[in-house]
Amino acid sequence: MLWCTKIRPWITQNSPSEITNLSAAAHSVAHYIRAGTIPQMKSSDPADIPSALKNSIHKRLAPWFQRCKRPMPWRNTSDPYAIWLSEVMLQQTQVATVEPYYQRFLQHFPDIDSLAAAPLEEVLKLWAGLGYYRRARSLHRAAQFIASTYHSVFPCTYDQILQLPGIGPYTAGAIASIAFREAVPVLDGNVMRVLTRLLLIQHDIARPQTRKLLWKIAGSLVPNKNPGDFNQAMMELGATVCTPTRPRCESCPLATLCAARREHLQHRFPVRQSKSATPRISVAAVIIRSPQGRLMARRKPGGLWEHLWEFPAFELVRPTAAGVSKHFFALTGLRIKLKRHPATLAHQLTHRRMEYTLFTGRSLSAAKVELDAKIASPYDAVRWITDMTSVPKSRLTEKISALAG
Ligand code: ADE
Repeated sequence: MLWCTKIRPWITQNSPSEITNLSAAAHSVAHYIRAGTIPQMKSSDPADIPSALKNSIHKRLAPWFQRCKRPMPWRNTSDPYAIWLSEVMLQQTQVATVEPYYQRFLQHFPDIDSLAAAPLEEVLKLWAGLGYYRRARSLHRAAQFIASTYHSVFPCTYDQILQLPGIGPYTAGAIASIAFREAVPVLDGNVMRVLTRLLLIQHDIARPQTRKLLWKIAGSLVPNKNPGDFNQAMMELGATVCTPTRPRCESCPLATLCAARREHLQHRFPVRQSKSATPRISVAAVIIRSPQGRLMARRKPGGLWEHLWEFPAFELVRPTAAGVSKHFFALTGLRIKLKRHPATLAHQLTHRRMEYTLFTGRSLSAAKVELDAKIASPYDAVRWITDMTSVPKSRLTEKISALAG
């Protein structure tokens, strides 16, 4: 999607010779950063961006952001609770996916008190489908912490916000700068891409030392005036213009300053260690029907998908109907003849790829089922369920349900 292809008045803000100087400044910063090992950040600190370059970045970015920013509901509020919610939802998730969840969540839980008082199951139900459920649990815990420690008033400094459960430097920086105008930086994937291209930073961004350097550079760039807008502009630029592939440099307010562009090397940044292949895990999911609904199991606390309901599933290298029946019987005490369903499903997690085979069966009576505590499993409860909307579940479970019919 093209967001802002309007004429580029920012290009004309500096004379050609000034632009050459600023671009050279970006290159001299790039030179420091490229040279040798990652710097010790003492005397010739590469995070000390020349102030002319900083000013020029600010002068170009601010009007571009005002002109081109995408309308988003959380951009019309200064309520730190709503800003916090949006930032948590936006981690690992696209803006378009987040919008309806954000609106619905705020309708149900308009403030810290209502969220803190809600049962976790209710919170998870509103999160269902958004993924990375740890975020919802941390949000809930942090709301309870704010209610008890700060009398439900959102803490207003970066350092205090960073102490909240589940909040890291990115989220603390986003809330402190956007809601409280504190001049602290944010660094997400988009900002890293913008900075590494702008300043031709050739270090591997997977390395903690590189991250430290990038945080420092981001911190030295963030202005005292409107730090929240600056941070959002950097993220927005990375999301809409300085994109991973085919960056739209012709629409970029920082194009004339960009060291990577000058060397036609945008596509090479950021530099990232090549990732080793992610392991594949084969999983058999079992969908059993009875007059009382389908059999579902609840994930134990502590692991992936904790507290969510799903169809009982087993990690088996080569699942067959007979093999899966045996495991299913051992876990639930229910003897069922299973049939392999033609559909399969892949689900990508951060560090592994889950490949699901589905098995279906029918129980004529809604037999009593109980988990055998002696069998190791990721579940702490099983139940026949007719109304799937009555329990929190992941989008993956919804997909399996739709496929199995
Ligand atoms: N990504 C996450 N939060 C954002 C924000 N506030 N603006 C732009 N992009 C974002």
